[in-house]
Amino acid sequence: MLFGINNYYIGKVREGMAAVTTAEMKEKLTADFKEKFGGDGDIRSYFAPGRVNLIGEHTDYNGGHVFPCALTIGTYFIARKREDDIIRLYSENFEGLGIIEGSIKDLTWKKEADWANYPIGMTWAFGEKGYPVTSGYDVLLYGNIPNGSGLSSSASVEVGTGVMLKDMFGYDISMIDIALFGQYSENNFNKVNCGIMDQFAIAMGSKDKAIFLDTSDLSYEYAPVVLADSKIVIACSNKKRGLGDSKYNERRSECEQALAELQKCLNIRSLGELTEEEFEANKGLIASDVRRRRAKHAVYENQRTIKAVKALRDGDIEAFGKLMIASHDSLRDDYEVTGIELDTLVASALKQPGVIGSRMTGAGFGGCTVSIVKNDAIDGFIENVGREYAAAIGYAADFYVVEIGDGAGKI
Ligand code: GLA
Repeated sequence: MLFGINNYYIGKVREGMAAVTTAEMKEKLTADFKEKFGGDGDIRSYFAPGRVNLIGEHTDYNGGHVFPCALTIGTYFIARKREDDIIRLYSENFEGLGIIEGSIKDLTWKKEADWANYPIGMTWAFGEKGYPVTSGYDVLLYGNIPNGSGLSSSASVEVGTGVMLKDMFGYDISMIDIALFGQYSENNFNKVNCGIMDQFAIAMGSKDKAIFLDTSDLSYEYAPVVLADSKIVIACSNKKRGLGDSKYNERRSECEQALAELQKCLNIRSLGELTEEEFEANKGLIASDVRRRRAKHAVYENQRTIKAVKALRDGDIEAFGKLMIASHDSLRDDYEVTGIELDTLVASALKQPGVIGSRMTGAGFGGCTVSIVKNDAIDGFIENVGREYAAAIGYAADFYVVEIGDGAGKI
């Protein structure tokens, strides 16, 4: 990573590093941009955050609720429109790949384009949705979200590219549409069948609030995350994963099949429409035990999310924490998307004093856990969980004490 990071520290690894403000980051990256691409013209800057989901996992493609928030870490974009058709993309996170070149005349997925398939895919999606990108551009990116960690670095690049294109080409597009274009490009260009949660959280985030989103109709409410004397601590397992080669798409189709079996007798459009009681009364319609457990998770997790938001609004953080723990248990036992790394992090977290709740976050199969930890217990938490994890797994986890930030925009 290039230099210090704004507004947070990474456990013991980067503790004490000078915090860098957005203005300093912009200045430094603009200088880098000028060095890479030359100095003149209308150079503009944007930021898109990463996200963490507090509860409501694998519910967004099942018509259920999610409860994510945007972070203050994310991806910076420094960009300038070109007069010709050429797109030039450079990431300070992948310096070895150098400048990747494309053309607005050939917006197709290419293996050698690597990370640049995300901005190129978004450029393609704009055209598909009736907002053609009519000239090329140069862009330099730098992200302080760990890549492939489950904090949505790819959705951050998609939504950030969307904000950039909207501004540079003067289109009037809502932030919700930008999120939908991002999901469209992820599904159809990068071929990952993700739901809307990540792009929505990144586009619509609001400082110190989480978004209670009903994915069946995209209605949403902001809920202040008031944790009193506690903070959100993210533990990154450092087990790399890509959604494409994970079992994400398989889980999604298992849920679709279970829904089709239920629909033989029930008039429902999604698993998110069922209460726990309705599910229990009808689960016999699902022929396989595996699909029954997948559907059970989707139904119960949705109801847990609704209960968790109510608990938070009532100021009952303990109840919120218990629902987080139940969420992890269900993701481990019924949905089977955790794995030894995430289970070790959560089991170790729950043994520590001052831990209110802990669970995996994001798609699973690696990536991160999210825990709510009392302020005075955070140092001990990082030390103990870090030690136990390294002893059990053989490599270290990274820890991030995060803050909830705003959604993507111009900086
Ligand atoms: C990934 C997807 C989201 C969501 C989560 C699981 O982050 O991109 O749409 O399905 O997994 O909750």
